[in-house]
Amino acid sequence: MNGWLLRYEGWDPAAEALRETLCALGNGRFATRAAAPERRAGDGSYPGTYVAGVFDRLTDEVDGHRISNESIVNLPDWQSLTFRVEDGPWLDLCALTVTGYVQELDLRRGVLTRRFRIEDPEGRRTRVAQRRLVSMSDPCLAALDCTVLAENWSGRLTVRSGLDGTVTNDGVARYRGLDGRHLSAVEPCVHDQLLTLTAETRQSRIRIGMAAQHRVLVEGTARPAVAVPVDEPGVAAVELALAMEPGRPATVEKLVSLWTSRDPGVGEPGEAAIDELDRAGTFADVLARHELAWDHLWFRCDVEIEGPARASLVLRLHVFHLLQTVSPHSVDLDAGIPARGLHGEAYRGHVFWDEMFVLPFLHLRLPEVARSMLLYRWRRLPQARAAARAAGHRGAMFPWQSGSTGREESQVLHLNPRSGRWLPDNSHLQRHIGLAVAYNTWRYYEATGDTDFLTEHGAELLLSIAAFWGDLATYDPVDDRFDICGVMGPDEYHDALPSRDEPGLDDNAYTNVMAAWALSRALECLEVLPPGRRHELLDTLDIRRADLERWQHVSRKLRLCWTDDGVLLQFRGYDELAEFDWAGYRARYGDISRLDRILEAEGDSTNRYKLSKQADVLMLFQLLTADELYALLDRLGYRHDRRTIPRTIAYYLERTSHGSTLSKVVHSWVLARADRRRAWDYFLEALESDIADVQGGTTGEGVHLGAMAGTVDLLERGFTGLETREDLLGFDPFLPDALRRMRFRLRYRRHTEIEVVIDHQTLTVGGTATRATVLPVRVRDKEFRLDPRGTLEVPLRHRRPD
Ligand code: BGC
Repeated sequence: MNGWLLRYEGWDPAAEALRETLCALGNGRFATRAAAPERRAGDGSYPGTYVAGVFDRLTDEVDGHRISNESIVNLPDWQSLTFRVEDGPWLDLCALTVTGYVQELDLRRGVLTRRFRIEDPEGRRTRVAQRRLVSMSDPCLAALDCTVLAENWSGRLTVRSGLDGTVTNDGVARYRGLDGRHLSAVEPCVHDQLLTLTAETRQSRIRIGMAAQHRVLVEGTARPAVAVPVDEPGVAAVELALAMEPGRPATVEKLVSLWTSRDPGVGEPGEAAIDELDRAGTFADVLARHELAWDHLWFRCDVEIEGPARASLVLRLHVFHLLQTVSPHSVDLDAGIPARGLHGEAYRGHVFWDEMFVLPFLHLRLPEVARSMLLYRWRRLPQARAAARAAGHRGAMFPWQSGSTGREESQVLHLNPRSGRWLPDNSHLQRHIGLAVAYNTWRYYEATGDTDFLTEHGAELLLSIAAFWGDLATYDPVDDRFDICGVMGPDEYHDALPSRDEPGLDDNAYTNVMAAWALSRALECLEVLPPGRRHELLDTLDIRRADLERWQHVSRKLRLCWTDDGVLLQFRGYDELAEFDWAGYRARYGDISRLDRILEAEGDSTNRYKLSKQADVLMLFQLLTADELYALLDRLGYRHDRRTIPRTIAYYLERTSHGSTLSKVVHSWVLARADRRRAWDYFLEALESDIADVQGGTTGEGVHLGAMAGTVDLLERGFTGLETREDLLGFDPFLPDALRRMRFRLRYRRHTEIEVVIDHQTLTVGGTATRATVLPVRVRDKEFRLDPRGTLEVPLRHRRPD
């Protein structure tokens, strides 16, 4: 490892799934897993290529139920490339002596390199070097080259390169009982060294066009080569014969283009793919443009730290995968942020609330990308309204899992691999997803000051979401309180009270506080809108004065439940649950992060205990500052003191199994001020989520994008206290000891290139901006004014923990 290089040594087929995900290449429009080009799916390898927003729905029968699942589609494998010497077997590293195997992902350049040396049973020694990229400059292009050097032999080398349309969705073992054949009408074609392949998704009828062109070079000079088409159903492939001599390297370059009928500016995808190759130039041209595009992205997005070398690299890896999932190329694709990146098939490519952890980074770097992610939600308002209506409510009810249309994509049944049982899945009751959309909308507006967006789209989101929560809350005249019943909080280990048959919980604290917050922001937003637009929206959405009064009322009277010692309860009835035997289960099972599976397999249920899969109440302390939260508690009429937050943190800290990778990010965040050492430990653990595959196999199915982005956000906002509320840039740094210094660039409103450097002594903010005015900056409780192009240096007094 160095600051920019993720490096693996040694060929290890058992580690391939993980490496394939961690070294996956993408550009925000599509991504490809880093499977060895000579391998097909199976034996631990899984070539997968996914285009943002390309979904397909298939129906299966499970346990007598017809269930339909919409999945991101695994598209034809464009990387497929192998070779053999004379008439020997095709390259198989498991059958050869492999020495000097190195795989390197260069994060700065977005290039994956693989180098190895093999010796076959005849004693022929061969060196191989391959490079791969998915272009960050040309969003429909990818490229691979393979250089072969015969060390001690001469003879014929046959390189076989293809576009493999026989692939299926087969990347997640749990889904294997379900139909994974999403491609139909696969038409491969070979014209000399040009390969084309068209296909169509079965239900969504998205047309796919792929093309690949080859070039052969000997000792770096282009040479003609005879291309022989390969006859294999569903595959467009060609064999290129090369005469090898010792010490003379031969290279095959493969440029690939991939278009779909969903792309803006596409005519017919097959033709578009061929045209793209005509414009592409050589591998070197494609590489140069790609590197430049990454260079520009890193200028805006790099986060540099002085601290442990591993942390520095992993943070960059996280930024890298974030940008490979959503980038300037995502704008206008109308695709949301998939929880597992474009890196695998876990959760079927669906969009959850995880965007809450990703958007803060984008707000301050690539606001146009953040905006397009919010527009993904806005375009699905009609579905969300229909869902609310169908549930008997007003406003808009967003789905917990969202795919192409915005209908609810959460599964109805899920498999517990431990017990082998299919179980009802109630996670769709996580209605708080709508609150995440409202939160993201408002925070985007605060960070960017984009009143145009707020006026045209954001306000409609906020008001429609508020209308739902205003309506969902029910009034209890006895206590003069509103309740929100029958929902689930972020902690997925509780979906019902043990005493109740029907699913759903009442007065989940996270939901109720965020609902109060969202209702207040909707009311505030009405004040920001120009009067004409305000009336237009209120008329169109049929929101009357009485509704607004009700929102006021609900936002002041939602019920929160407390223990006698003043700890905020996760939901009504939580205090009556049994304490869990943490030590006993740890001793019996070791890893107890998936207590839901363990307990169900034992015939028990997580619903019975005081335990959480992930931060639930504690999420509040991440999303809202202490000031905001205490103001909300005042508004709701609940007494609190300055120990309310620390007391509540301590309570849940002891009762969380961290079954979601999001959990440690949040725990680190909420401890950042009170217990810097522990916060740093959680931060380091959260950093390991994917690189060390801490859940034992889930990273191979896709990255955990929320946790990846969350760690970067933790560094940038959690440890620095960076805030964009109240029309200024606020800081309240509290660096962990092991973090000596950090440096990043951000964009705040018109101030496009603000450089921030923070160490334990000083905060430096430097501004370069066009057309910008003075930037108001607050450091702790002092306000400053930063001139455009000026620099502000503020000494940081030592601060005692809160
Ligand atoms: C977590 C959710 C998350 C989802 C997708 C689940 O395990 O509990 O909070 O949204 O994964 O990342």
